[in-house]
Amino acid sequence: MVAIYLSLLLITGFSAAIHGQQGNSSISLGSSLSPNTNPYWLSGSGQFAFGFYEKDDGFAIGIWFQKIRQNTVVWTANRDNPPLPRNVTLLLTNDGRLVLEQEQGRKTALTDSLQSASSASSASMLDTGNFVLYDSSSTIIWRTFDSPTDTILPGQPLLMGNDLISSISETNHSRGKFRLVMQGDGNLVQYPSGTPPKGDNAYWNSKTFDAGDNVSLNLDRNGQLFLLNSTGFNIMNLTGQRNPSHNFSLYRLTLDFDGILRLYSRSLNQNDDDWSIEWSPTSNHCDPTGLCGINAYCTLQEQKAVCTCPPGFDFLDQGQHNLGCKRNSSADGCTSKNGETVDTLQELESVEWEDNPYSNLSLNKIECREDCLKDCKCVAALFKDQTCRKQNFPLRFGRERQDNSCITIIKISFGSSNTTQVSRGRKKQQEMGVLIGSSVILAFALVILAITGILIYRYRVWEYKKIKNQWNDGLIEEVTLRSYTYGELEKATNGFTDEVGEGAFGTVFKGVIDNGKTVVAVKRLETVVAESEREFRNEMKAIGRTHHKNLVKLFGYCHDGTNRLLVYEYMSNGSLADFLFKSRRKPSWEEKTGIALNLARGILYLHDECENQIIHCDIKPENILMDEQKCTKIADFGLAKLLMPNQTRTYTGIRGTRGYVAPEWHRNLPITLKADVYSFGIVLLEIVCGRRNVDVELPEEEVVLANWVFDCFEAGELDRLVKDEQVEMNKLERMVRVGLWCIQYEPSFRPTMKRVVLMLEGTVEIPAPPSPTPFSSAM
Ligand SMILES: *[C@@H]1O[C@H](CO)[C@@H](O)[C@H](O)[C@H]1NC(C)=O
Ligand SMILES: *[C@@H]1O[C@H](CO)[C@@H](O)[C@H](O)[C@H]1NC(C)=O
Ligand SMILES: *[C@@H]1O[C@H](CO)[C@@H](O)[C@H](O)[C@H]1NC(C)=O
Ligand SMILES: *[C@@H]1O[C@H](CO)[C@@H](O)[C@H](O)[C@H]1NC(C)=O
Ligand SMILES: *[C@@H]1O[C@H](CO)[C@@H](O)[C@H](O)[C@H]1NC(C)=O
Ligand SMILES: *[C@@H]1O[C@H](CO)[C@@H](O)[C@H](O)[C@H]1NC(C)=O
Ligand SMILES: *[C@@H]1O[C@H](CO)[C@@H](O)[C@H](O)[C@H]1NC(C)=O
Ligand SMILES: *[C@@H]1O[C@H](CO)[C@@H](O)[C@H](O)[C@H]1NC(C)=O
Ligand SMILES: *[C@@H]1O[C@H](CO)[C@@H](O)[C@H](O)[C@H]1NC(C)=O
Ligand SMILES: *[C@@H]1O[C@H](CO)[C@@H](O)[C@H](O)[C@H]1NC(C)=O
Repeated sequence: MVAIYLSLLLITGFSAAIHGQQGNSSISLGSSLSPNTNPYWLSGSGQFAFGFYEKDDGFAIGIWFQKIRQNTVVWTANRDNPPLPRNVTLLLTNDGRLVLEQEQGRKTALTDSLQSASSASSASMLDTGNFVLYDSSSTIIWRTFDSPTDTILPGQPLLMGNDLISSISETNHSRGKFRLVMQGDGNLVQYPSGTPPKGDNAYWNSKTFDAGDNVSLNLDRNGQLFLLNSTGFNIMNLTGQRNPSHNFSLYRLTLDFDGILRLYSRSLNQNDDDWSIEWSPTSNHCDPTGLCGINAYCTLQEQKAVCTCPPGFDFLDQGQHNLGCKRNSSADGCTSKNGETVDTLQELESVEWEDNPYSNLSLNKIECREDCLKDCKCVAALFKDQTCRKQNFPLRFGRERQDNSCITIIKISFGSSNTTQVSRGRKKQQEMGVLIGSSVILAFALVILAITGILIYRYRVWEYKKIKNQWNDGLIEEVTLRSYTYGELEKATNGFTDEVGEGAFGTVFKGVIDNGKTVVAVKRLETVVAESEREFRNEMKAIGRTHHKNLVKLFGYCHDGTNRLLVYEYMSNGSLADFLFKSRRKPSWEEKTGIALNLARGILYLHDECENQIIHCDIKPENILMDEQKCTKIADFGLAKLLMPNQTRTYTGIRGTRGYVAPEWHRNLPITLKADVYSFGIVLLEIVCGRRNVDVELPEEEVVLANWVFDCFEAGELDRLVKDEQVEMNKLERMVRVGLWCIQYEPSFRPTMKRVVLMLEGTVEIPAPPSPTPFSSAM
């Protein structure tokens, strides 16, 4: 073992000796480096090297970690210069200057900032990664730490007025697109590098703008990153508190080419070659402003930033998508052919841009579209807050946003590019369509509405007949339910007098059947025909064959002429909404936990345990009923969606109730079982806290239940949620965790109902949930 060690030492020592000068012994005047013979000087421990490294087809001068196989360059001299040829020499001249000789006799100084009067008497590559020149009294007169490129190392402060500029790419260390500036006002800010340092362009800042001048960014040997003010006070720790580690780790803070600042560490004890990320101010890869270049916008796909061109645009360079996009027709402004405009408009939702309008007018969207179409200067219009904000080229800083309060209206020109006749013809039709669309559709719709209004009565009758004819198409065979006549149910409900509730499409009455033996609830569907017919069939199909103690039982139906009625078991204790929000006696903690678990089991049955998977689509306290024993049962399947075998998702129009519908309904994503999980999560939090999911009467921070619960959870103040109620803290925390997992923005993050039940029962561990709001961790 020892022998192997020794020979390893010998080999590394030997190779260092032949490749570069060894150790910290100061580099004396007259020494030189050249790519061929003696490419670099090593620091004492051999950790860092200063000298020539390979760049493209030539060489650059820089400093890098030498002991790491994959070279990590931390500093580059004259980073924007082209690569150097093989026959160059770097000299520490006898008169004490560090110069580069590219042609015989022509020397350029590497140390521009150094006074020409001062001359060095030695140089050293220090173990900190700092390459320094000393004068005759061993004072440092020049050092690379003073002019960082994209990286700082432990012990290297970023002083007021200095910046880091990202590289073009991992291998091209020329100045790239992003900048981290230690500003004179004490604020540490990230900007796109080509723009003036104004607040609008910044994409991250340390918020220390009142810390006075001469603030510096510092990294210590333990990997702690912090800001010091001019009197040396630590005014902000960017990384969390760290214990001094006896395991020596390497650290570097690099502004990466993708615009994201990252603190990397690498343990010396380990043999793996990878740097791991210790800290970063953002996790959203689309955050860096202008990442995608002009006229392009950034979207996240599996956490990665992807540049996209808007409609009518193509990449400037198909090979480098981050350079931006150009219009793919040569035309600018308005194009016309035979006096007709041949431009068209396209809309882009949920994308934000730099908003630098040359005109902003208060218009509605249709007017905004027309206005931009007519205006030859208008390249695009951002329609937000009911204002039409017309933009010139180029569009900048585009990125996807989660809310779609801003609509980008983009003008696409077809005119002067010589496209084929066929496509032009088609385009023209499209354009006609747009014109008609914008002005005529409204009037047309009104006429249609009027006609519909007139015809609706006749239509009803006709529709009933049609439905009657279809009635036997399979539904009867599917369900084995009792059929009632209208007269029977009229009698059972005493002429529909005892109203007990209101469903999505009908009213519910109390009644008795079987000669007064069984109390039932009879739902009479009454609204526009096709709707209620669909609802009727839905309910029949969805629950006709379900049997579960946590689902309301359907006894029978009435399909008699124009009448559609459903007969259910009667739930004497009303709805969960009444119990939670209205009743004088609030549910006890045991009742709450029982309700939650029963509700979860009912949904689990719908999702997993019956013949067809069923998405209920309208889980809310009004649709959760309680029988005499206060057993929870799910009701109202009028909006339910049945999934075919093998189907896991479905597209459908928005169903459900505001406040309970999952965000994907608004995002045009397919709807899965996870939509019910979301609604369940909201209801669960309502059960726990005994209040509505939105309550504007409450103090501001409590208005939105989900946010408030998360805040309390984060702060470890769950007791605030239940005031002075008697609760079991461990169960409370479990329910809160489950609720927060269920309402995650991304459907895939939400647990399945099976898991929800296990978690509520306490048989599996529940990790701490992240914030339910999207991207809140980004800043
Ligand atoms: C070289 O290393 C020795 C100890 O290893 C140290 O005392 C000396 O100051 C170092 N010299 C320079 C120039 O860093
Ligand atoms: C390196 O080679 C180029 C031509 O290949 C020549 O012009 C230049 O003078 C050479 N430089 C040195 C320092 O020899
Ligand atoms: C590195 O980037 C600079 C600036 O864009 C460019 O001029 C140079 O050609 C690039 N080098 C390579 C090898 O692509
Ligand atoms: C700022 O701090 C640096 C180092 O901490 C110091 O050398 C410099 O004199 C200070 N400048 C001002 C204006 O305080
Ligand atoms: C530096 O910070 C300390 C602590 O916040 C403060 O007392 C001191 O006045 C600050 N110095 C300057 C120059 O602002
Ligand atoms: C940062 O952490 C250090 C200890 O590592 C502590 O002394 C200092 O007060 C902290 N600074 C702030 C602003 O919390
Ligand atoms: C130091 O490294 C050892 C082995 O790699 C590890 O077990 C230990 O937890 C580390 N200690 C610290 C403080 O990181
Ligand atoms: C412009 O781009 C779109 C989509 O990339 C393409 O369908 C269209 O044919 C292009 N038009 C021209 C004139 O190149
Ligand atoms: C709209 O434009 C007017 C002048 O053209 C300007 O004063 C106003 O600040 C603009 N409003 C916004 C929201 O940009
Ligand atoms: C379109 O084609 C005509 C001839 O076919 C040519 O003269 C004209 O320059 C072309 N225009 C563009 C924009 O390519």
